[in-house]
Amino acid sequence: MFDTLGLICVMWWYMMLFHPLHADIQYIESEAQESPIANVKMNWKNMELTWDSSKNFSKYKCTIMDRDIESIQTEVDSPLCRFPVELYLPLHKGVFLTIEVPNTNISKTFTFIPRGINGSAIENFSCVIYNISLMNCTWQAGKDAPGDTQYFLYWKNSRYDDEMECELYIKDENGRNAGCRFQNVRIETEKAYFLVNGSSKDSLIQFYDEYIELYKIEILTPPLNVIVNCTGDSAGCIIIWQAPLTSHVENIKCFQYEISIQNKVKTIYWFVFETIPTCMHIYNVQTSVAFVY
Ligand SMILES: *[C@@H]1O[C@H](CO)[C@@H](O)[C@H](O)[C@H]1NC(C)=O
Ligand SMILES: *[C@@H]1O[C@H](CO)[C@@H](O)[C@H](O)[C@H]1NC(C)=O
Ligand SMILES: *[C@@H]1O[C@H](CO)[C@@H](O)[C@H](O)[C@H]1NC(C)=O
Ligand SMILES: *[C@@H]1O[C@H](CO)[C@@H](O)[C@H](O)[C@H]1NC(C)=O
Ligand SMILES: *[C@@H]1O[C@H](CO)[C@@H](O)[C@H](O)[C@H]1NC(C)=O
Ligand SMILES: *[C@@H]1O[C@H](CO)[C@@H](O)[C@H](O)[C@H]1NC(C)=O
Ligand SMILES: *[C@@H]1O[C@H](CO)[C@@H](O)[C@H](O)[C@H]1NC(C)=O
Ligand SMILES: *[C@@H]1O[C@H](CO)[C@@H](O)[C@H](O)[C@H]1NC(C)=O
Repeated sequence: MFDTLGLICVMWWYMMLFHPLHADIQYIESEAQESPIANVKMNWKNMELTWDSSKNFSKYKCTIMDRDIESIQTEVDSPLCRFPVELYLPLHKGVFLTIEVPNTNISKTFTFIPRGINGSAIENFSCVIYNISLMNCTWQAGKDAPGDTQYFLYWKNSRYDDEMECELYIKDENGRNAGCRFQNVRIETEKAYFLVNGSSKDSLIQFYDEYIELYKIEILTPPLNVIVNCTGDSAGCIIIWQAPLTSHVENIKCFQYEISIQNKVKTIYWFVFETIPTCMHIYNVQTSVAFVY
């Protein structure tokens, strides 16, 4: 009993040590029996699971799974399993890890679940990037969070960045943090990691975490320097524009444009470009047209 407790403490410590944002998670070990597998460590940053084994087994099988039952298995011949770092597994729903020795009854399962009262974690977390490098994230307090709950946002733009706390919280009418404004956000190729935890005088508040691909949440500014030149005769119109500003696109070919040409309220032309044009020539258009991007 004492030993099991010792292991729980050790595990807890390692979880604390190795999670990039020190998420408040507890671990539950499945069996109480003696097992040749001990001293299990999970390094969430590198997605490496390691352990000590009192016997030399030739093979181990590791499984990682979250609540949505997406499981990834790997088989190894030494006590180290590497899961793909691209898994981007949020932890707030719980993560299950199993180490098995094939062809034996030896296995060890760990469950990581967020600590705290159910329903206390934030809900409806969402972020947008706008005006090139500004970002807003917003959320709602958990339905069962105590009245004095305060929330805090931490994030990492990529795996190797340091974690940062929100600098400018958006507060709700009760003075509770309900969002965050960010400046000088760079859109990296890796997914950004967000974690919102909370505190309350008398209860432990569950955290929420999510990985987001920032380019997907960007609200692009309209194309720049749009010039429409309608000469009024049969030559038609020429429309010229430049790609919108953004913090991330090196390749201007990534943009798609839509041009709607309207006469009063009626759309008379609608174009969607899959490729690069930043100029188009339209023939036989009546003058006094409106352009919508
Ligand atoms: C929230 O998470 C951050 C980053 O891991 C940590 O420094 C902080 O102590 C946590 N706060 C609470 C209330 O758990
Ligand atoms: C396992 O094998 C290694 C070398 O193959 C050896 O040094 C070690 O003592 C062995 N351990 C056990 C517990 O048998
Ligand atoms: C595995 O099986 C052996 C005998 O087949 C048994 O003695 C042992 O208790 C079992 N261990 C576990 C962890 O179930
Ligand atoms: C909290 O929710 C989890 C998952 O839905 C459930 O397994 C657990 O029993 C709940 N705990 C309490 C104290 O209600
Ligand atoms: C989150 O959004 C859903 C759908 O809009 C809504 O039903 C729910 O009440 C929201 N949660 C909170 C805590 O406000
Ligand atoms: C967008 O950014 C520019 C330059 O940083 C600033 O002048 C402008 O006020 C910003 N617009 C909005 C809507 O925040
Ligand atoms: C971002 O948050 C600020 C402050 O709450 C708000 O004025 C602005 O409209 C928000 N922008 C977007 C795009 O949500
Ligand atoms: C518009 O097109 C006409 C005819 O091609 C050209 O002479 C004129 O310079 C153009 N004006 C602008 C602002 O590009």
